[in-house]
Amino acid sequence: MILPAQSENPASLAHLDLEHEIPRLKREMNAVILAHYYQESEIQDLADFVGDSLQLSQQAAATKADVIVFAGVLFMAETAKILNPGKLVLLPDLKAGCSLADGCPADRFAEFRRRYPDSVSITYINCSAEVKALSDIICTSSNAEKIIRQIPPEKHILFAPDQHLGRYLMKKTGREMTLWPGSCIVHEMFSEKSLVQLKERHPRALVLAHPECPEAVLRHADYVGSTTGILKYAVASPAAEFIVATESGILHQMEKACPKKTFIPAPGEGGCSCSECPHMKLNTMEKLYLCMRDRRPEITLDETLRQRALKPILRMLEMS
Ligand code: 13P
Ligand code: SF4
Repeated sequence: MILPAQSENPASLAHLDLEHEIPRLKREMNAVILAHYYQESEIQDLADFVGDSLQLSQQAAATKADVIVFAGVLFMAETAKILNPGKLVLLPDLKAGCSLADGCPADRFAEFRRRYPDSVSITYINCSAEVKALSDIICTSSNAEKIIRQIPPEKHILFAPDQHLGRYLMKKTGREMTLWPGSCIVHEMFSEKSLVQLKERHPRALVLAHPECPEAVLRHADYVGSTTGILKYAVASPAAEFIVATESGILHQMEKACPKKTFIPAPGEGGCSCSECPHMKLNTMEKLYLCMRDRRPEITLDETLRQRALKPILRMLEMS
């Protein structure tokens, strides 16, 4: 069960200096703010740690703070709670979901598992706590390949819920897997045709892509990896120009780390720059402040469910 936020008109906070108030509340509460790269820039700049899904769950597992404020989406905050049952875990907007998690309901996933009884199920962390509890091992885009390579070759693998990441991993590892047919609404929007046209206009630019992109887009990528992988690649590369095929929030850290390099968001159909995750962007500075001030909305989980969901997450952390 998840407790809802108190409703308050964000305009009534206009007199507050949130860049000062949020750190003040953080000190008072002994809180840590964990933010994903897809959060708006102001939130990233206030966070104690900004990272990809694996790093954020590692930070959540290691924190000594009493309160975890998760500037991300629901599956990320749930993972933090699964790892920290005794801590208060807050999410600024409970409606911050994920199309991958929404497209893989637990009852249908249970049926999927029943159809392949002798398989091992590796499930992308972008899923609900209920689906985690039905999985053998959780993975993220940065450790999935490493985890798959540790599965004995005779074992059949079920991979859910992102078909594009699954297909990319099959190619990378040479392992056959049965894929759940889910996808991310943001990465699915990138258009191969518009990308090719953009590359013609920027012939020296390297294409950096998240593995949630469709195969037709990944085909043009010079580098494929998690958000942290993309950022590290851009920092280390001698190239000066990059086309970035993932949610545009990552550009903030890329531009901070490499102020002399140029980053161009990959285009969608018709050339639109529509690479914003509507779920991630539900979190705002005002909602971040309110959730800390009011200590809600809080993530709570049934203890039996939490213990079942914990096992495949711990396996992931061991195998990473
Ligand atoms: P990363 O683990 O690469 O940060 O990806 C999270 C995500 O939601 C991608 O859309
Ligand atoms: Fe989910 Fe896609 Fe948003 Fe990531 S970008 S949180 S996968 S909807």
